[in-house]
Amino acid sequence: MSNNRNRVVVRTEDLRKDLKMGEVTVRAVRGVSLEVMAGEFLGIIGPSGSGKSTLLGLIGGLDTPTSGRVYIDGEDITDLSERALTRVRNEKIGFVFQFFNLVPTLTALENVALPVQFARNRQFNPTRRAQELLEMLGLGDRMKHRPSQLSGGQQQRVALARALANNPPLLLCDEPTGNLDSESSDVVMRALRTVQEQMNTTVILVTHNMDVAAQMDRLITLVDGHIAEDIDARSTAQLEAIRLLREKRKTGELPAVAVTNE
Ligand SMILES: Nc1ncnc2c1ncn2[C@@H]1O[C@H](COP(=O)(O)OP(=O)(O)OP(=O)(O)O)[C@@H](O)[C@H]1O
Ligand SMILES: [Mg+2]
Repeated sequence: MSNNRNRVVVRTEDLRKDLKMGEVTVRAVRGVSLEVMAGEFLGIIGPSGSGKSTLLGLIGGLDTPTSGRVYIDGEDITDLSERALTRVRNEKIGFVFQFFNLVPTLTALENVALPVQFARNRQFNPTRRAQELLEMLGLGDRMKHRPSQLSGGQQQRVALARALANNPPLLLCDEPTGNLDSESSDVVMRALRTVQEQMNTTVILVTHNMDVAAQMDRLITLVDGHIAEDIDARSTAQLEAIRLLREKRKTGELPAVAVTNE
């Protein structure tokens, strides 16, 4: 697997999901076509009930679409058997949810080592891999602690380390800071950024928190199950910066020399 930033890690084609509740059918996802590249830091926002979690579940192979296709790291996972999907999830996708779901009787180290022990194609020494990830996420001195002995932000970083244990190209996060105060939320967001920068992991993150959303490089807004907006937040910020520099030059606050390569 290359770390090429031009590699498409997630592709969906006209993805749809109808959910039946007795007589009523909810069209939770209504034709989502999306491409996400290696190393992208993508946020998904939108009102409650707009289909964010459903879409994430389809991308992660936790759920099968009513129609449309899903490709993960070049592989069409749409019609895979449950067994084959389990393999894709274990090898290619890390999941982080609002509630940390750590094993309460295991230490941080053991929680992170677990998925490495269970991997079919084991790439790492479980204990060494767990140590390395926990150190990277600033938990080097908390490895022997059990979940109940850790703060919320620390538990979520353990959950993040566990999700990364088998070095998946894709990390899916549903409200990862939803259960955290703003300080712990910042710690977890910094940890995610470290992961994206050091491991070139593609991150797709659903959030209601606009402070969190503002840190993403690209932002998709879901409304009624479809993409209402898809913005490159990085170039938007760059454009904003350039506009500001231009204004300052006009007002004489900055010298009239080219400071950007416009
Ligand atoms: N298992 C289900 N059976 C029937 N309808 C469902 C089911 N799960 C979700 N829905 C409906 O599908 C729509 C999308 O739900 P989804 O959970 O994806 O929304 P969301 O954007 O994640 O919302 P939130 O921000 O509240 O988490 C909603 O209208 C919801 O009521
Ligand atoms: Mg949701």
